Amino acid sequence: MYEKLATAAAHIQKVKPCSPKVGVVLGSGLGDFVDQIEDKTIISYDDIPFFHKTTVEGHAGKLILGKIGNTEIAALQGRFHSYEGLEMDDVVFPTRLLSTLGVDTLILTNAAGGINTNYQAGDLVVIEDHINMTGNNPLVGPNIKEMGPRFPDMSKAYHPELREIILKSAEKLGYTMQTGIYAGVLGPTYETPAEVRMLRTLGADVVGMSTVPECIAANHIGMKVCGISCVTNMASGIENVELKHEDIKDEALRVMEKFTSILKETVKTIGA
Ligand code: 6GU
Repeated sequence: MYEKLATAAAHIQKVKPCSPKVGVVLGSGLGDFVDQIEDKTIISYDDIPFFHKTTVEGHAGKLILGKIGNTEIAALQGRFHSYEGLEMDDVVFPTRLLSTLGVDTLILTNAAGGINTNYQAGDLVVIEDHINMTGNNPLVGPNIKEMGPRFPDMSKAYHPELREIILKSAEKLGYTMQTGIYAGVLGPTYETPAEVRMLRTLGADVVGMSTVPECIAANHIGMKVCGISCVTNMASGIENVELKHEDIKDEALRVMEKFTSILKETVKTIGA
């Protein structure tokens, strides 16, 4: 793993010498944020050693290096999910690569279903904490000491100061955000109404099929992590509609302006 990361990072440094401080993982339908990045270098996942190819629609499969204001960033447009049949090591490889490139602050974003009945489609949620319902963990297997501890602390998995920066950024721009708990599930099915009730009872406010593995791997390797969920739809059983991936992507596009401006302000503040 260690050597693979070093090889992939060396390849990227050869294409474009860089030292990004902030990393962003863009969720389903949220990839257009990369239009905000200046002095862009775009590297296709196909050209990065040991990267898998993305299969989900709405995920481009590109690493974008560049700047937002004075902050050097690396954005992953398109992510890997366990439900694609990938090993956990492959799911979190891009996250670990960002750390190898020098990223110390990671912003995870996703499209999610609303579970909290006070939420509605179009809401943006600062992730306060997560519940890992995937039945898996990217750290299962021998621990690589150089990467992080065997039993990582997860008491501040979503960094409180970063959460505050996101909320302040939204406030400054005149937007309101929710704060909530993200339940990460395996997928690829959406939840049944009974599962949605279960997740609500457990304390979850939103549900999605990503973010948890990356958050774990990033905390393990010592990155500061924060996350934003875009509520693209209410989870099943709350409203009497069927869930379709197409509709979910469309809703993500509709909230794009709000999402983009908050994320941009957040990145600038982190780098300042
Ligand atoms: Cl309702 N569930 C899950 N698991 N992922 C989602 C979603 C729902 N809506 C968007 N992504």
